[in-house]
Amino acid sequence: MRVIYACTKIRKYKIFINPDITNMFPELLRKNFSNASKIVLITSDKIFNIFKNRIRNILEGCSISNEIILIKDGEQYKNIKSVNDIYKKLSDFNIHRDDVVIAFGGGVIGDLAGFAAATYHRGVKLIQYPTTITGQVDSSIGGKVVINYSNYKNVIGCFYQPHMIIIDPVLLYSLDELQIINGLAEIIKYGIVFDKKILNILDENTEAESKDRLEKLIKKKVFTDIIYRCALIKTKVVRKDEFDYGYRNLLNFGHTIGHCIEKAANLKKVNHGQAVSMGMIIAIDISNKLGLLRREFKNRIIDIYKKLKLPFIIPKLELNNIMDSLEHDKKIKGSRNKFILLKGLNRPVFYYNVEKDIITGSISENMAKN
Ligand code: GLY
Repeated sequence: MRVIYACTKIRKYKIFINPDITNMFPELLRKNFSNASKIVLITSDKIFNIFKNRIRNILEGCSISNEIILIKDGEQYKNIKSVNDIYKKLSDFNIHRDDVVIAFGGGVIGDLAGFAAATYHRGVKLIQYPTTITGQVDSSIGGKVVINYSNYKNVIGCFYQPHMIIIDPVLLYSLDELQIINGLAEIIKYGIVFDKKILNILDENTEAESKDRLEKLIKKKVFTDIIYRCALIKTKVVRKDEFDYGYRNLLNFGHTIGHCIEKAANLKKVNHGQAVSMGMIIAIDISNKLGLLRREFKNRIIDIYKKLKLPFIIPKLELNNIMDSLEHDKKIKGSRNKFILLKGLNRPVFYYNVEKDIITGSISENMAKN
Protein backbone atom coordinates (compact mmCIF):
# COMPACT_ATOMS: atom_id res chain seq x y z
CA MET A 1 0.00 0.00 0.00
CA ARG A 2 1.19 3.55 -0.77
CA VAL A 3 0.87 6.12 1.99
CA ILE A 4 1.55 9.85 1.57
CA TYR A 5 2.09 11.88 4.73
CA ALA A 6 0.55 15.28 4.13
CA CYS A 7 1.97 17.96 6.35
CA THR A 8 0.01 21.23 6.40
CA LYS A 9 -0.30 24.15 8.81
CA ILE A 10 -3.85 23.11 9.64
CA ARG A 11 -2.98 19.46 10.36
CA LYS A 12 -0.98 16.39 9.41
CA TYR A 13 -2.87 13.55 7.80
CA LYS A 14 -2.39 10.42 5.71
CA ILE A 15 -3.41 9.65 2.15
CA PHE A 16 -3.83 5.90 1.58
CA ILE A 17 -3.61 4.70 -2.03
CA ASN A 18 -4.23 1.10 -3.06
CA PRO A 19 -6.54 -0.83 -5.39
CA ASP A 20 -9.34 -2.29 -3.24
CA ILE A 21 -8.26 -0.37 -0.15
CA THR A 22 -12.01 0.01 0.37
CA ASN A 23 -11.96 -3.47 1.97
CA MET A 24 -9.59 -2.14 4.63
CA PHE A 25 -11.61 0.96 5.41
CA PRO A 26 -13.22 -0.29 8.66
CA GLU A 27 -9.78 -1.10 10.07
CA LEU A 28 -8.39 2.31 9.06
CA LEU A 29 -11.34 4.03 10.66
CA ARG A 30 -10.96 2.13 13.94
CA LYS A 31 -7.22 2.89 14.08
CA ASN A 32 -7.44 6.57 13.20
CA PHE A 33 -10.78 7.74 14.62
CA SER A 34 -11.13 5.88 17.89
CA ASN A 35 -13.20 8.69 19.50
CA ALA A 36 -15.88 8.68 16.81
CA SER A 37 -19.28 7.39 17.83
CA LYS A 38 -20.99 8.01 14.46
CA ILE A 39 -20.15 8.20 10.80
CA VAL A 40 -22.11 10.03 8.12
CA LEU A 41 -21.41 9.29 4.47
CA ILE A 42 -22.38 12.05 2.07
CA THR A 43 -22.73 11.19 -1.60
CA SER A 44 -24.91 11.89 -4.64
CA ASP A 45 -27.91 9.80 -5.65
CA LYS A 46 -26.08 8.84 -8.86
CA ILE A 47 -22.90 7.69 -7.11
CA PHE A 48 -24.96 5.87 -4.49
CA ASN A 49 -26.68 3.85 -7.22
CA ILE A 50 -23.32 2.83 -8.69
CA PHE A 51 -21.65 1.89 -5.39
CA LYS A 52 -24.66 0.86 -3.24
CA ASN A 53 -23.22 -2.48 -2.14
CA ARG A 54 -19.73 -1.19 -1.55
CA ILE A 55 -21.06 1.72 0.52
CA ARG A 56 -23.20 -0.62 2.64
CA ASN A 57 -20.20 -2.91 3.21
CA ILE A 58 -17.99 0.02 4.19
CA LEU A 59 -20.50 1.33 6.71
CA GLU A 60 -21.56 -2.00 8.19
CA GLY A 61 -17.94 -3.11 8.54
CA CYS A 62 -17.22 -0.11 10.76
CA SER A 63 -19.66 -1.39 13.43
CA ILE A 64 -20.61 2.05 14.70
CA SER A 65 -23.78 3.99 14.17
CA ASN A 66 -23.96 5.33 10.60
CA GLU A 67 -26.10 7.45 8.32
CA ILE A 68 -26.12 8.28 4.61
CA ILE A 69 -26.96 11.72 3.20
CA LEU A 70 -27.86 11.83 -0.49
CA ILE A 71 -27.48 15.01 -2.54
CA LYS A 72 -28.82 15.51 -6.06
CA ASP A 73 -26.10 15.00 -8.64
CA GLY A 74 -24.55 17.99 -10.43
CA GLU A 75 -22.64 21.24 -10.10
CA GLN A 76 -25.93 23.19 -9.86
CA TYR A 77 -26.56 21.63 -6.44
CA LYS A 78 -23.23 22.79 -5.04
CA ASN A 79 -24.94 25.64 -3.23
CA ILE A 80 -25.99 26.98 0.14
CA LYS A 81 -29.34 25.19 -0.03
CA SER A 82 -27.64 21.77 -0.18
CA VAL A 83 -25.31 22.83 2.64
CA ASN A 84 -28.36 23.79 4.68
CA ASP A 85 -29.94 20.37 3.99
CA ILE A 86 -26.72 18.71 5.18
CA TYR A 87 -26.63 20.86 8.37
CA LYS A 88 -30.20 19.85 9.16
CA LYS A 89 -29.37 16.16 8.86
CA LEU A 90 -26.13 16.46 10.85
CA SER A 91 -28.17 18.14 13.56
CA ASP A 92 -30.94 15.48 13.41
CA PHE A 93 -28.25 12.78 13.71
CA ASN A 94 -26.72 14.63 16.68
CA ILE A 95 -23.25 14.74 15.12
CA HIS A 96 -20.39 15.93 17.35
CA ARG A 97 -16.90 17.16 16.60
CA ASP A 98 -15.26 13.73 16.95
CA ASP A 99 -17.75 12.10 14.61
CA VAL A 100 -16.74 11.48 11.02
CA VAL A 101 -18.13 12.85 7.78
CA ILE A 102 -17.10 10.92 4.66
CA ALA A 103 -17.24 12.84 1.38
CA PHE A 104 -17.74 9.95 -1.07
CA GLY A 105 -17.82 11.11 -4.69
CA GLY A 106 -16.32 13.45 -7.26
CA GLY A 107 -15.31 17.10 -7.00
CA VAL A 108 -18.81 18.42 -6.29
CA ILE A 109 -19.36 16.10 -3.33
CA GLY A 110 -15.83 16.71 -2.03
CA ASP A 111 -16.44 20.46 -2.06
CA LEU A 112 -19.98 20.40 -0.69
CA ALA A 113 -19.55 17.78 2.03
CA GLY A 114 -16.12 19.23 2.82
CA PHE A 115 -17.57 22.72 3.30
CA ALA A 116 -20.39 21.41 5.51
CA ALA A 117 -17.90 19.37 7.58
CA ALA A 118 -15.58 22.39 7.90
CA THR A 119 -18.30 24.67 9.22
CA TYR A 120 -20.62 22.42 11.25
CA HIS A 121 -19.57 22.77 14.92
CA ARG A 122 -16.64 24.78 13.47
CA GLY A 123 -15.29 21.54 12.02
CA VAL A 124 -16.00 17.84 12.40
CA LYS A 125 -13.70 15.02 11.29
CA LEU A 126 -13.55 14.75 7.50
CA ILE A 127 -12.51 11.85 5.28
CA GLN A 128 -12.23 12.59 1.56
CA TYR A 129 -13.07 9.46 -0.45
CA PRO A 130 -12.81 10.51 -4.13
CA THR A 131 -14.41 8.35 -6.84
CA THR A 132 -13.16 10.22 -9.94
CA ILE A 133 -9.66 10.62 -11.38
CA THR A 134 -9.79 14.40 -10.91
CA GLY A 135 -10.86 13.88 -7.30
CA GLN A 136 -8.10 11.34 -6.66
CA VAL A 137 -5.25 13.34 -8.18
CA ASP A 138 -6.33 16.87 -7.38
CA SER A 139 -9.50 18.16 -5.76
CA SER A 140 -9.65 15.90 -2.68
CA ILE A 141 -6.12 16.95 -1.69
CA GLY A 142 -5.28 20.38 -0.34
CA GLY A 143 -8.25 21.50 1.70
CA LYS A 144 -10.09 23.83 -0.67
CA VAL A 145 -13.79 23.36 0.14
CA VAL A 146 -16.14 25.64 -1.74
CA ILE A 147 -19.67 26.20 -2.99
CA ASN A 148 -21.13 28.34 -5.75
CA TYR A 149 -23.06 31.55 -5.16
CA SER A 150 -25.66 32.72 -7.64
CA ASN A 151 -23.97 32.30 -11.05
CA TYR A 152 -20.48 32.54 -9.60
CA LYS A 153 -18.46 29.36 -9.28
CA ASN A 154 -16.52 28.53 -6.11
CA VAL A 155 -16.86 31.93 -4.44
CA ILE A 156 -17.86 30.83 -0.92
CA GLY A 157 -15.52 28.54 0.93
CA CYS A 158 -12.56 28.03 3.19
CA PHE A 159 -9.43 25.96 3.65
CA TYR A 160 -10.14 22.85 5.69
CA GLN A 161 -7.69 19.99 5.40
CA PRO A 162 -9.24 16.54 5.61
CA HIS A 163 -8.26 14.16 8.43
CA MET A 164 -7.65 11.29 5.99
CA ILE A 165 -7.93 10.59 2.25
CA ILE A 166 -8.74 7.17 0.84
CA ILE A 167 -7.83 6.59 -2.81
CA ASP A 168 -9.08 3.36 -4.33
CA PRO A 169 -8.29 3.22 -8.09
CA VAL A 170 -10.76 0.33 -8.50
CA LEU A 171 -13.60 2.83 -7.99
CA LEU A 172 -12.55 4.43 -11.31
CA TYR A 173 -13.61 1.38 -13.33
CA SER A 174 -17.16 2.69 -13.46
CA LEU A 175 -16.21 6.01 -15.08
CA ASP A 176 -17.35 6.68 -18.63
CA GLU A 177 -14.96 7.82 -21.36
CA LEU A 178 -15.68 11.52 -20.94
CA GLN A 179 -15.00 11.34 -17.20
CA ILE A 180 -11.73 9.52 -17.93
CA ILE A 181 -10.74 12.24 -20.42
CA ASN A 182 -11.53 14.85 -17.75
CA GLY A 183 -9.15 13.15 -15.35
CA LEU A 184 -6.42 12.49 -17.92
CA ALA A 185 -6.30 16.21 -18.71
CA GLU A 186 -5.38 16.92 -15.07
CA ILE A 187 -2.80 14.11 -15.11
CA ILE A 188 -1.18 15.51 -18.29
CA LYS A 189 -1.06 18.88 -16.52
CA TYR A 190 1.05 17.34 -13.73
CA GLY A 191 3.26 15.68 -16.37
CA ILE A 192 3.87 18.93 -18.28
CA VAL A 193 4.32 21.24 -15.31
CA PHE A 194 5.99 19.07 -12.66
CA ASP A 195 6.98 15.49 -13.55
CA LYS A 196 7.88 14.40 -17.09
CA LYS A 197 7.98 10.73 -16.01
CA ILE A 198 4.17 10.85 -15.91
CA LEU A 199 4.09 11.65 -19.65
CA ASN A 200 6.46 8.78 -20.40
CA ILE A 201 4.40 6.31 -18.38
CA LEU A 202 1.19 7.42 -20.13
CA ASP A 203 2.86 7.25 -23.53
CA GLU A 204 4.34 3.79 -22.97
CA ASN A 205 1.19 2.27 -21.52
CA THR A 206 -1.46 3.46 -23.96
CA GLU A 207 -2.26 1.30 -26.97
CA ALA A 208 -2.72 3.81 -29.77
CA GLU A 209 -5.32 2.03 -31.86
CA SER A 210 -7.28 0.00 -29.33
CA LYS A 211 -10.99 0.93 -29.07
CA ASP A 212 -11.20 0.73 -25.29
CA ARG A 213 -7.68 2.03 -24.71
CA LEU A 214 -8.63 4.45 -21.91
CA GLU A 215 -10.52 1.81 -19.96
CA LYS A 216 -7.56 -0.55 -20.34
CA LEU A 217 -5.16 2.17 -19.22
CA ILE A 218 -6.94 2.94 -15.95
CA LYS A 219 -7.14 -0.78 -15.16
CA LYS A 220 -3.38 -1.22 -15.50
CA LYS A 221 -1.35 -1.53 -12.33
CA VAL A 222 0.81 1.34 -13.52
CA PHE A 223 -2.17 3.70 -13.29
CA THR A 224 -1.98 3.44 -9.49
CA ASP A 225 1.63 4.71 -9.81
CA ILE A 226 0.43 7.64 -11.89
CA ILE A 227 -2.21 8.53 -9.31
CA TYR A 228 0.39 8.24 -6.57
CA ARG A 229 2.82 10.53 -8.42
CA CYS A 230 0.13 13.17 -9.00
CA ALA A 231 -1.16 12.99 -5.41
CA LEU A 232 2.40 13.36 -4.14
CA ILE A 233 2.99 16.43 -6.31
CA LYS A 234 -0.27 17.99 -5.15
CA THR A 235 0.65 17.35 -1.52
CA LYS A 236 4.05 19.02 -2.03
CA VAL A 237 2.56 22.02 -3.83
CA VAL A 238 0.02 22.50 -1.03
CA ARG A 239 2.75 22.22 1.58
CA LYS A 240 4.63 25.06 -0.15
CA ASP A 241 1.62 27.34 -0.58
CA GLU A 242 -1.31 26.03 1.44
CA PHE A 243 -3.36 29.24 1.26
CA ASP A 244 -2.84 29.87 -2.45
CA TYR A 245 -0.76 33.04 -2.41
CA GLY A 246 1.20 32.23 -5.60
CA TYR A 247 3.01 28.94 -6.19
CA ARG A 248 -0.15 26.81 -5.88
CA ASN A 249 -1.48 28.69 -8.89
CA LEU A 250 0.80 26.55 -11.07
CA LEU A 251 -1.91 23.90 -10.71
CA ASN A 252 -4.01 26.12 -12.95
CA PHE A 253 -1.82 25.56 -16.02
CA GLY A 254 -4.15 25.53 -19.05
CA HIS A 255 -7.08 26.71 -16.95
CA THR A 256 -6.96 30.44 -17.88
CA ILE A 257 -8.00 29.99 -21.51
CA GLY A 258 -9.64 26.66 -20.62
CA HIS A 259 -12.26 28.41 -18.44
CA CYS A 260 -12.92 30.95 -21.20
CA ILE A 261 -13.44 28.18 -23.77
CA GLU A 262 -15.77 26.37 -21.36
CA LYS A 263 -17.85 29.52 -20.90
CA ALA A 264 -17.88 30.46 -24.59
CA ALA A 265 -18.87 26.91 -25.60
CA ASN A 266 -21.84 27.05 -23.25
CA LEU A 267 -24.39 24.77 -24.89
CA LYS A 268 -21.88 23.15 -27.22
CA LYS A 269 -20.85 20.96 -24.33
CA VAL A 270 -17.12 21.29 -24.01
CA ASN A 271 -16.57 19.78 -20.58
CA HIS A 272 -13.97 20.96 -18.08
CA GLY A 273 -11.29 18.40 -18.96
CA GLN A 274 -11.64 19.00 -22.68
CA ALA A 275 -11.45 22.77 -22.14
CA VAL A 276 -8.34 22.41 -19.97
CA SER A 277 -6.77 20.17 -22.63
CA MET A 278 -7.30 22.89 -25.24
CA GLY A 279 -6.20 25.57 -22.76
CA MET A 280 -2.89 23.76 -22.24
CA ILE A 281 -2.31 23.69 -26.01
CA ILE A 282 -2.93 27.46 -26.14
CA ALA A 283 -0.52 28.04 -23.23
CA ILE A 284 2.12 26.00 -25.08
CA ASP A 285 1.41 27.86 -28.31
CA ILE A 286 1.70 31.27 -26.63
CA SER A 287 4.98 30.11 -25.05
CA ASN A 288 6.20 29.27 -28.60
CA LYS A 289 5.12 32.65 -29.94
CA LEU A 290 6.91 34.47 -27.13
CA GLY A 291 10.08 32.53 -27.93
CA LEU A 292 10.11 30.75 -24.57
CA LEU A 293 9.64 27.22 -25.86
CA ARG A 294 10.75 25.11 -28.80
CA ARG A 295 8.12 24.28 -31.49
CA GLU A 296 8.69 20.49 -31.28
CA PHE A 297 7.34 20.45 -27.75
CA LYS A 298 3.79 21.10 -28.96
CA ASN A 299 4.00 18.17 -31.40
CA ARG A 300 5.18 15.81 -28.66
CA ILE A 301 2.21 16.80 -26.47
CA ILE A 302 -0.25 16.49 -29.37
CA ASP A 303 1.03 12.94 -30.03
CA ILE A 304 0.23 12.01 -26.44
CA TYR A 305 -3.17 13.76 -26.67
CA LYS A 306 -4.01 11.69 -29.76
CA LYS A 307 -3.29 8.45 -27.93
CA LEU A 308 -5.43 9.55 -24.98
CA LYS A 309 -8.25 10.98 -27.11
CA LEU A 310 -7.79 14.43 -25.63
CA PRO A 311 -8.93 17.28 -27.90
CA PHE A 312 -6.26 19.71 -29.13
CA ILE A 313 -8.40 21.71 -31.58
CA ILE A 314 -10.92 24.20 -30.17
CA PRO A 315 -14.36 23.71 -31.76
CA LYS A 316 -15.56 26.66 -33.86
CA LEU A 317 -16.58 29.32 -31.33
CA GLU A 318 -16.90 33.11 -31.36
CA LEU A 319 -13.39 34.41 -30.69
CA ASN A 320 -14.96 37.54 -29.13
CA ASN A 321 -16.79 35.46 -26.54
CA ILE A 322 -13.57 33.77 -25.48
CA MET A 323 -11.78 37.14 -25.28
CA ASP A 324 -14.70 38.78 -23.35
CA SER A 325 -14.44 36.02 -20.83
CA LEU A 326 -10.70 36.63 -20.52
CA GLU A 327 -11.35 40.36 -20.02
CA HIS A 328 -13.87 39.57 -17.28
CA ASP A 329 -11.34 37.26 -15.61
CA LYS A 330 -8.75 40.04 -15.75
CA LYS A 331 -11.15 42.46 -14.00
CA ILE A 332 -11.74 40.01 -11.17
CA LYS A 333 -8.09 39.14 -10.68
CA GLY A 334 -6.56 42.59 -11.10
CA SER A 335 -5.96 44.75 -14.11
CA ARG A 336 -3.46 42.52 -15.96
CA ASN A 337 -3.81 39.11 -17.49
CA LYS A 338 -1.76 36.36 -15.96
CA PHE A 339 -0.72 33.18 -17.74
CA ILE A 340 1.20 30.15 -16.68
CA LEU A 341 3.55 29.48 -19.60
CA LEU A 342 6.48 27.15 -20.19
CA LYS A 343 10.20 27.66 -20.69
CA GLY A 344 10.54 23.92 -21.25
CA LEU A 345 9.20 20.63 -19.96
CA ASN A 346 8.63 20.95 -16.19
CA ARG A 347 9.77 24.59 -16.36
CA PRO A 348 6.63 26.66 -15.75
CA VAL A 349 6.75 30.43 -15.50
CA PHE A 350 4.18 33.08 -14.53
CA TYR A 351 3.79 35.62 -17.34
CA TYR A 352 1.83 38.87 -17.11
CA ASN A 353 0.21 41.04 -19.77
CA VAL A 354 0.52 38.81 -22.81
CA GLU A 355 -0.42 40.98 -25.81
CA LYS A 356 -3.94 40.56 -27.11
CA ASP A 357 -2.76 39.84 -30.68
CA ILE A 358 -0.64 36.93 -29.52
CA ILE A 359 -3.58 35.43 -27.60
CA THR A 360 -6.11 35.87 -30.41
CA GLY A 361 -3.59 34.60 -32.99
CA SER A 362 -2.95 31.51 -30.96
CA ILE A 363 -6.65 30.79 -30.34
CA SER A 364 -7.58 31.27 -34.03
CA GLU A 365 -4.76 29.06 -35.26
CA ASN A 366 -5.86 26.26 -32.95
CA MET A 367 -9.59 26.53 -33.69
CA ALA A 368 -11.60 24.40 -36.13
CA LYS A 369 -12.42 26.31 -39.31
CA ASN A 370 -16.01 25.07 -39.55
N1 GLY B 1 -7.28 22.46 -7.77
C1 GLY B 1 -6.43 23.55 -7.56
C2 GLY B 1 -5.98 23.74 -6.16
O1 GLY B 1 -6.26 22.92 -5.30
O2 GLY B 1 -5.35 24.71 -5.86
